[in-house]
Amino acid sequence: MPPGIHEYESKDIVVRFDPKRCIHAAECVKRMPAVFERDRKPWVDPSQGDADAIAAVVPHCPTGALSFSRKDGGSEEAAPDRNLVRVVADGPIYIHGDIELHTSDGVAKQTRVALCRCGAAHNKPYCDNSHQDIGFRHDGNFTRQPATAELGGPLEVHLRENGPIQLIGNLQLESGDGSHAMLCSGQTWMCRCGHSENKPFCDGAHKRAGFEAAGEAAQSRQG
Ligand code: SF4
Ligand code: FES
Repeated sequence: MPPGIHEYESKDIVVRFDPKRCIHAAECVKRMPAVFERDRKPWVDPSQGDADAIAAVVPHCPTGALSFSRKDGGSEEAAPDRNLVRVVADGPIYIHGDIELHTSDGVAKQTRVALCRCGAAHNKPYCDNSHQDIGFRHDGNFTRQPATAELGGPLEVHLRENGPIQLIGNLQLESGDGSHAMLCSGQTWMCRCGHSENKPFCDGAHKRAGFEAAGEAAQSRQG
């Protein structure tokens, strides 16, 4: 098990929790308070719920802080049939999809991730709520025109050293309030320095701003 990950087990399911990636007190506690109870120790108790129900709730955790594996032969979490990229107002980028995340630690398959787009997270590339500390402001909307595209398939997520997030694959991009949406394919470059004048997209401002952040591992594909 990777360092810092907590495991909570019942006879049917193991729930994993990465505290560094938990940035809000919402979906888990709201949807299944018997299993996820902030004021209890341990705060996750899978024996208090049915394994199928827990497996249905965990994918609502938008950051990937929660994950599970079944001990009873039940279904594991599957990637959704569309890659959804949500630009949260004044906050991170949520990705829910068939994600291949390329970081300085190598390549990891994921289904949910919250990526910093303000430039201030101490846990880059993940969001750690630092946007609140620096007063990051962007409504999460965008003006590019919709294009026709497929929505599924693998989505490569590359972290460019001192630069943006490069998404390679098909995706649906949505503003946090759902009022704006567009379909993208090929390459989509998302700002993660907080300085772009064309948010949520990168406009090269990271260079002028002297943004510094680790990129992906050297052996990964170059775009
Ligand atoms: S749903 Fe995920 S990010 Fe939200 S409070 Fe629960 S563990 Fe944390
Ligand atoms: S990452 Fe922000 S402008 Fe390029």
